[in-house]
Amino acid sequence: MSASTENRGVVYKGAGKVAVESIAYPELAIGNRKCDHGVILKVVTTNICGSDQHMVRGRTTAEEGLVLGHEITGIVVECGRDVEFIQQGDLVSVPFNIACGRCRSCKEGKTGICLNVNPARPGAAYGYVDMGGWVGGQAEYVMVPYADFNLLKFPDADQAMEKIRDLTLLSDIFPTGFHGCVTAGVGPGSTVYIAGAGPVGLAAAVSAQLLGAACVIVGDMIEDRLVQARSFGCETIDLTQDGDMADKIEAILGEREVDAFVDCVGFEAHACGCNHGKEAPATVLNSAMSLTRAGGQIGIPGLYVTEDPGAVDDAAKQGALSMRFGLGWAKSHSFHTGQCPVMKYHRPLMQAILFDKVKIADAVNVEVITLDQAPNGYAEFDGGAAKKYVIDPHCSVTA
Ligand SMILES: NC(=O)c1ccc[n+]([C@@H]2O[C@H](COP(=O)([O-])OP(=O)(O)OC[C@H]3O[C@@H](n4cnc5c(N)ncnc54)[C@H](O)[C@@H]3O)[C@@H](O)[C@H]2O)c1
Ligand SMILES: [Zn+2]
Ligand SMILES: [Zn+2]
Repeated sequence: MSASTENRGVVYKGAGKVAVESIAYPELAIGNRKCDHGVILKVVTTNICGSDQHMVRGRTTAEEGLVLGHEITGIVVECGRDVEFIQQGDLVSVPFNIACGRCRSCKEGKTGICLNVNPARPGAAYGYVDMGGWVGGQAEYVMVPYADFNLLKFPDADQAMEKIRDLTLLSDIFPTGFHGCVTAGVGPGSTVYIAGAGPVGLAAAVSAQLLGAACVIVGDMIEDRLVQARSFGCETIDLTQDGDMADKIEAILGEREVDAFVDCVGFEAHACGCNHGKEAPATVLNSAMSLTRAGGQIGIPGLYVTEDPGAVDDAAKQGALSMRFGLGWAKSHSFHTGQCPVMKYHRPLMQAILFDKVKIADAVNVEVITLDQAPNGYAEFDGGAAKKYVIDPHCSVTA
């Protein structure tokens, strides 16, 4: 048993507001359902994500009181009765998808749509609306179910702590960006357009380079984020400027289409050019069809929702968007949506970090903050800071 019985976490307090509060110390259970297959983690790092911002901006049906946080790395302090291989003291990365390892989806490696962890729909995550009610990990302690299946143990905890700013990104955005590129068909010599220079877009851009892309172009409206993309060799397009996107691609590549397109924006997309202040939820999907070569693939890690109370029109409130789907059909595009199945990628990407093949923390500009600084981190991130905020609840990184 661990010594502590106290816990503090980041709590959603209604649109635009989060607070750090005392929360219950985790149990090996969710409601009446026992989790003898679970462990309790002392959280070492837990990152703030653009996915959290959709909730905090009031753009989902998340209820006040939700404990946030799905990007978790921690030390095992207690193992449930049925945990066989993970041990107390292990330093582990937690995939943000919760997966049972026993259902049809999990057996096919599709851990983002596990059938047994969310009574409402396939797929679950920690601290997320509609994702099964699992308590979030932007906290001092958190419970992780099906621990033997879900957790990635770092081979050497001391060595891992030296690279923790990079390894903390294995719980979500590095695999997510990589998956976006893999599903877009990125390989050696590809030309790639990445929509969005937030942390997921930047992670996708580094991933495209790791996969051997010839040219990676990143588009956004926030200049600081484009500077960040250029810092590791990407071409950029400033979307506040008017003009045809194909012309801008042609100015860089000498041709008007890319081989692969990755949407790292999602449903809160803004219009480009003179309308860049206005929301236009289908704009990235429509650009994807215009700008991707015939037969090309489109990776869509950016999140799209089934309910959006803050949407621009009634259709979008139900997640129905105005897409020119006929164009994508005519060009034989394939579209790849959904949660990233983190487990498919986290081990090889861990090895790439440990063997110095990639500098993901520098690319996304990791900034480590304390738990008490989390509300400020949320506000700065929402303001468009070119940073990935990593909460260090026990000051184990800064110490
Ligand atoms: N599929 C998954 O498993 C998964 C995992 C993590 C995050 N996500 C999603 O990925 C998306 C990005 O996450 P993030 O943390 O980088 O968020 P973010 O909000 O920091 O980044 C989004 C960026 O898109 C830019 N943008 C807005 N409209 C644009 C447009 N038309 N073209 C290009 N850029 C535009 C914004 O200025 C912003 O910089 C979110 O929707 C998030 O929910 C999905
Ligand atoms: Zn995330
Ligand atoms: Zn499952």
